[in-house]
Amino acid sequence: SFAKVADPKDESNELIQTLERRINWDGTSLIKYDGFWFPVRLFKPILSAQKYFKAKDTDIILSTLPKSGTTWLIPLTFCIVNRHIYPIAQSPLLTSSPHTIVPFLELNLYWEQTNPDLENIPSPRIFSTHMPYNVLPDSIRESECKIIYMCRNPLDHFISYRQFLLKNKIEKDAKPLDIDEAFDMFCQGIQLYGPYWEHVLGYWNAHLRNPEKVFFLKYEDLKKETTLYIKKIAEFIGFPFSLEEEEQGLIEEISKFCSFENLSNLEVNKTGKLMGMVEKRSFFRKGEVGDWKNYLTPEMAERVKELMENKLEGSGLMF
Ligand code: A3P
Repeated sequence: SFAKVADPKDESNELIQTLERRINWDGTSLIKYDGFWFPVRLFKPILSAQKYFKAKDTDIILSTLPKSGTTWLIPLTFCIVNRHIYPIAQSPLLTSSPHTIVPFLELNLYWEQTNPDLENIPSPRIFSTHMPYNVLPDSIRESECKIIYMCRNPLDHFISYRQFLLKNKIEKDAKPLDIDEAFDMFCQGIQLYGPYWEHVLGYWNAHLRNPEKVFFLKYEDLKKETTLYIKKIAEFIGFPFSLEEEEQGLIEEISKFCSFENLSNLEVNKTGKLMGMVEKRSFFRKGEVGDWKNYLTPEMAERVKELMENKLEGSGLMF
């Protein structure tokens, strides 16, 4: 798209003025770019990442819509990749937040600097992102690097997101919408990094085109069969478990260590903020499947069911 060639430093302000705007559920401003809604403050970092990020073939990219379990996928992948360097008892995850260990491209690295030097990070480098597939820096799609995408049932995603936005006031004066208005916007596709179905479909189609490149995972499946998916992720990124490791119970050990119960009780994940504005503990709320039932009516659920059937029709993807 035209914005990909723009210099993020000089031209993003001008470009922002030309884009469609809406108010997000938490009262902050969203702009529409390449078919997706982004917070205004993320526009520059996204353009910088598009312009400057150079993927290496050995990179691992963890991609999600916010509130799909990024905070779970990060430690799992980190533990799989680094199991020979850090035994669980010495894991950096005991003393650092998952989001510090695996930074987001647009929320950390290209937020802090226009062109950060990422060359010397030891391989395999692991990065996370919420960028839609078509918005990713070209080199991520074009290199041999691996992408793990995780999504989550739309109703739980909506509730998890709403609770997160209520807990973290990103802008002091912004006024959060009530749940009916927020839900209606979700159904219109207006939300951070939304529409939901476009985000999911982008990665789903990429996975169908090239399953060696894009691993497609659902939060609910990971929850139900954690060890099976840890094994699959390990194979996908080229770090398969040996028979001996399996027999030693290493997969179960990683599964337990990365569980909601364990990580949410670590002091490092209970106190303090990320980026000076987001409560670390708000990344660990309930970690359950089906919590939407405590907030949404059966009619609301039916509306989303019909919407998803319509939007995902013919894709082979279902929730
Ligand atoms: P809930 O709000 O439903 O509890 P993200 O990391 O993408 O922001 O997603 C956050 C959601 O993942 C939250 O969902 C959070 O509780 C859940 N989560 C975080 N760590 C988890 C873990 N180790 N296991 C399972 N779920 C986890």
